[in-house]
Amino acid sequence: MERYAHITGWGMAVPERIMTNADLAEIVDTSDEWIRARTGIRERRIAGPKETTGTLAIEAAQAAVEVADIDPATIDLIIVATSTPEYVFPSTACVVQDALGALNAGAFDLSAACSGFVYALSTASNAIRSGAHNTVLVIGAETMSRVVNWEDRGTCILFGDGAGAFLLQGSEQPGGVLSCLLRADGSGGSSLMIPGGGSRAPASFDTVREHQHCIYMDGKEVYRFATRVMASAVKEVAQMGGLELEQLQVIIPHQANQRIIDSAARTLGMPEEKFVVNLDRYGNTSAASIPIAVCEAVAQGRIRPNDNLAMVGFGGGLTWGAALVKWDVMEKADISFWHRARRRASYEMAKVRSVVRRGVRQVEGMVYGTGPLRPPPEPSQMPPAQSPPRKQPVDGKAPPK
Ligand code: ACO
Repeated sequence: MERYAHITGWGMAVPERIMTNADLAEIVDTSDEWIRARTGIRERRIAGPKETTGTLAIEAAQAAVEVADIDPATIDLIIVATSTPEYVFPSTACVVQDALGALNAGAFDLSAACSGFVYALSTASNAIRSGAHNTVLVIGAETMSRVVNWEDRGTCILFGDGAGAFLLQGSEQPGGVLSCLLRADGSGGSSLMIPGGGSRAPASFDTVREHQHCIYMDGKEVYRFATRVMASAVKEVAQMGGLELEQLQVIIPHQANQRIIDSAARTLGMPEEKFVVNLDRYGNTSAASIPIAVCEAVAQGRIRPNDNLAMVGFGGGLTWGAALVKWDVMEKADISFWHRARRRASYEMAKVRSVVRRGVRQVEGMVYGTGPLRPPPEPSQMPPAQSPPRKQPVDGKAPPK
């Protein structure tokens, strides 16, 4: 029997702090008019000191698990698409696995920049269709504010923080993820990158001084690439899934720039109303932008049961990709109070289990003679997370509030 991967849960999380274009104009030499005219962005969310890619990913994942109304122990695989992971390792997916108490899941991060969510969705769908896994959690999560250069007006105006998650489950009922297209062109890698911090340029005083741990982008080059690939990816993925463009009800593009989306709509000859756009409120949240847009469109009733959706992403690598999905999610009965309460209790249990397992490891270390494990440095001993400047006056301007 052929198997299909259905999206049965979805959820999103964004930080509370809003940074408007006017706030940015107090940090770098820019203006609300310029940013709105060139990108369509009005404001973005910025993670606070206690918010990280991991905390946002966990919140979005818990929301998706809630909608799917499943026990986290039934999840087989967790994939987190991110360019701003909690650590180089362990993976952010392992952080999510521990917090959810997903005791039977494998977990890994996936790096494909802004195309990451489409790549992860394709990987999850293939894992289900092959029969290897049945329940897969896919998350796109980013804290881009931690890797932008807050002195570079060409990039810091574009990005924001957030997370979105899908829960996929296998069934023999046709539908769900119909087709996926993944593409890459590594020859364009240098037009969008974080040059420092990898094995080629490990962290040093020089890499920090030269802002090599921040995003470098050739905006014009990325713009040209994006307008070229977006429309063709939608056409190709629709064809692969056996649908005509007219049969697509909703397009969920990666939220980078309103002008890029308008250009794709023109090339495809599709009305702009079919394109879900929320970049005005969140900016470019990289791998999180597509699932966040889906969650909002579902909440607003823009995506209805049995709609055909095309999700299309592009970004660093260079990478791009598209997924064709039949939104065949059936209306569910209200989730009972007891299910919710049991799940909340299971998250508390997961915290206790995590602490106990750490304790057991300490004891084992002593019993087997390797001594107690050396704990990682406390956050207070770590360098502060990079966040947008709030206090220092720039170019003689008043400091932002
Ligand atoms: N405020 C005011 N002026 C600015 C700003 C700013 N924030 N940024 C640049 N300018 C100036 C430039 O200095 C330039 O001035 P000059 O003519 O005196 O030299 C002028 O505005 C025009 O600059 P351009 O770079 O030509 O502006 P452009 O129209 O190309 O828009 C933008 C720049 C918005 C970055 C655009 O190129 C773009 O959106 N590119 C795609 C970026 C993108 O989508 N990246 C994400 C990819 S996904 C991922 O994987 C991370």
